[in-house]
Amino acid sequence: MVQETLIIIKPDAFSKGVAGRVITELENEGLKLLGCRQLKLSKDKAKEFYKEHMGKEFYEPVTDFMAANPIIVMVWSGEEAIVRSRKLIGKTDPRDAAEGTIRKKWAQNYRHNIIHGSDSPGSAEREIDFFFPAGSGICMWEKKEFKL
Ligand code: TYD
Ligand code: MG
Repeated sequence: MVQETLIIIKPDAFSKGVAGRVITELENEGLKLLGCRQLKLSKDKAKEFYKEHMGKEFYEPVTDFMAANPIIVMVWSGEEAIVRSRKLIGKTDPRDAAEGTIRKKWAQNYRHNIIHGSDSPGSAEREIDFFFPAGSGICMWEKKEFKL
């Protein structure tokens, strides 16, 4: 089933200079970029985005981190896009992440871990609407051949 998922390139990816390489990984997986915007989250927006983690000990520090510098929010689509992108991303803690995954390659630790990806169809729907309300900023496209 074709799905859409919300991917975020986190502030540490900018610091490390790997934002472009993260996009390349998703392209190489065969996923399709439908929406993309750079923005700086307010602390309040970061807390709203991560509200499922409210009350956990890492809620404050992770929302500080997400609001510390710009992020890139993106919608990617493809067959089973949610599970495929989560596999490409790897486990939350890079020490547990499989070889070749984005977090294994570039994440510093379990908090500063380069990338977010929606973990279920329900969270994808909520998270896409959070940054691209009512589909605003989403551009559907099909592959075309360009010939002179
Ligand atoms: P979570 O949704 O569990 O991980 P994932 O990003 O793999 O879906 O947690 C959200 C983010 O919160 C995670 O990417 C980094 C941060 N975090 C911490 O800072 N400490 C922790 O112990 C956990 C589990 C997450
Ligand atoms: Mg999560």
